[in-house]
Amino acid sequence: QFLGFLATRVPKTELHLHIEGTLEPELAFQLAKKHDLHGLLSKYQYSVERIQESYQFEDLQSFLDLYYDFMQVLQDSEDFFRLTLTYLERARSQNICHVEIFFDGPFHVKRGIALSTVIDGIRAALEYGETHWRFTWRLIMCLQRELSPTDALQCVRELAPFRPWLHGIGLDGAEFPNPPDRFSAAFELARSMGLRCVAHAGEEGPPEYIRMALDSLQVERIDHGVQVTKDPTLLELLRATQIPLTVCPLSNLRLHVVDSLSEHPLRQLLDDGLCVTLNSDDPAYFGGYLNENFTVMIRENGLRCAHVAALLQNSFVASFLDTDECQRYL
Ligand code: HPA
Ligand code: ZN
Repeated sequence: QFLGFLATRVPKTELHLHIEGTLEPELAFQLAKKHDLHGLLSKYQYSVERIQESYQFEDLQSFLDLYYDFMQVLQDSEDFFRLTLTYLERARSQNICHVEIFFDGPFHVKRGIALSTVIDGIRAALEYGETHWRFTWRLIMCLQRELSPTDALQCVRELAPFRPWLHGIGLDGAEFPNPPDRFSAAFELARSMGLRCVAHAGEEGPPEYIRMALDSLQVERIDHGVQVTKDPTLLELLRATQIPLTVCPLSNLRLHVVDSLSEHPLRQLLDDGLCVTLNSDDPAYFGGYLNENFTVMIRENGLRCAHVAALLQNSFVASFLDTDECQRYL
């Protein structure tokens, strides 16, 4: 209990957070009303509670279907601003001091929302958070694995005007049947533009996808990566290289990647000496923000003081903060 108290009160970073996954039912409802989305509203009987109840999933795909559906409430820069500022208020209350935020740029473009609309709104909120609450931040655009390799490459080409506000490129969306090596050309271009590279891999897909993300995409961090436990050689590689994994236990539970949090590999991965961080992924959908992930894992996964200390330290080590900026916190 004391450990939970401590973990929730000390400064930490969040490195795996989809801003669209912070859309709470109340905000979804308000924005749906704002934009007269009666199709969506009637599907949930004009009720926030019905929206809340719909947040139940079988697996990654069933989550993505709902998550993509609710994105239609995000239409103008003001919506993205509100979404992001609401998350930052929450992050601040949880003593998160540095955020690395994912957004699904290509998905928004596909549904007719300009990239400038998305980025302007998110960036304005991040700059507000920087000025008023002293947040540091990085913005990472995720390519959706549902994209064709050619479309993914085109998306990266179109990033040039936004380069000053973007720090990296990521990969998310349906893991099957879309292995990471489909996107090697897009990641190569991103790297040549000076963007840092991360990718979701080994969430429900096989350890082989983690290897592909490392070899073909040359990523610096793996998002999720919990399936590494099935491959001892890869586990040893990740230990030796200290390539970070951004692990999200409540997400894994809700998407049935694990049957229970007591069986979650987090503690074992820490004991094995991997650079693991704790994160919330899509907190509005998965029943908890970062501090809830800490408290539930202390309780159910048997995390001890040394595990929590490692997670907190790794949250800075694995971040894209430079050494000077890290000094401010460590
Ligand atoms: N996995 C894949 N795609 C996603 C996720 C995730 O956890 N969250 C949002 N998009
Ligand atoms: Zn994710």
